[in-house]
Formats: sequence, structure tokens, C-alpha cells
Amino acid sequence: MTSTTETGIRVAALGDIPEGEALKVEAELTGHDDAIAVFHDEHTYYALDDTCTHGRASLSDGWIEGGEVECPLHSARFCLRTGEAQCMPATIGMRTHRVEVRSGAVWLYPGQEPTG
Ligand code: FES
Repeated sequence: MTSTTETGIRVAALGDIPEGEALKVEAELTGHDDAIAVFHDEHTYYALDDTCTHGRASLSDGWIEGGEVECPLHSARFCLRTGEAQCMPATIGMRTHRVEVRSGAVWLYPGQEPTG
């Protein structure tokens, strides 16, 4: 049996997630225990768990700039590449997931480490 973790999930066509924005992929679709936010920053795509480790805010609603996302609730920032918390009030990093661009689409691999 092939799982979505192995094959990836096509979450958007290339161009559907504008630069500086994010797409929230619900847990029902990913099979993961949290929704996953797919970010587009500086021509690169990243994926982190969507729920901030500090509270209940959705990082897909956050501010994206310079390789980081800023939580919309209390302004903690997280590195999009590593998931590490960059400032208070968050002290715990975000889980990261592998994202690939191929065949004109953005593919998400829930639970897999990013390759780059
Ligand atoms: Fe994100 Fe508080 S909920 S910083």
C-alpha cells in the first residue's frame, strides 16, 4: 500500500501560492496530527506545522519575510528552513516537512524531513 507520506500530496499548482503567502493544508488531507502550512518565500517553498508552539495561532496567517514567519498572535518568529524559534515568546521550534516542486506543482510530504 502506498501512503501519502511516500508519494507526496499535490497541494497547489505552481503560482497558486503567491510570493510572501502561505497555504494551510488541513490535517484531514495530510493524515498528520496538525494542519501544515506551506510557505512561499523568495522563490522557495517550505512547510511547517501550522499551529504555533506557543499558543493556538495559525502560522499560515503570519507575516512571511526573509526566511522567517512571524506568528500573528504574539509575534514569535520561526525559521522557515529549520523550524527553529528565533525569538520570544516561543521557545520550542516547529516541525518541518519536505516540499518539492515538480511537474508544475507543489508537493508536500507530511512527516518527512526537508531535503535541502
Ligand atoms: Fe504564536 Fe504566541 S501563539 S507567539
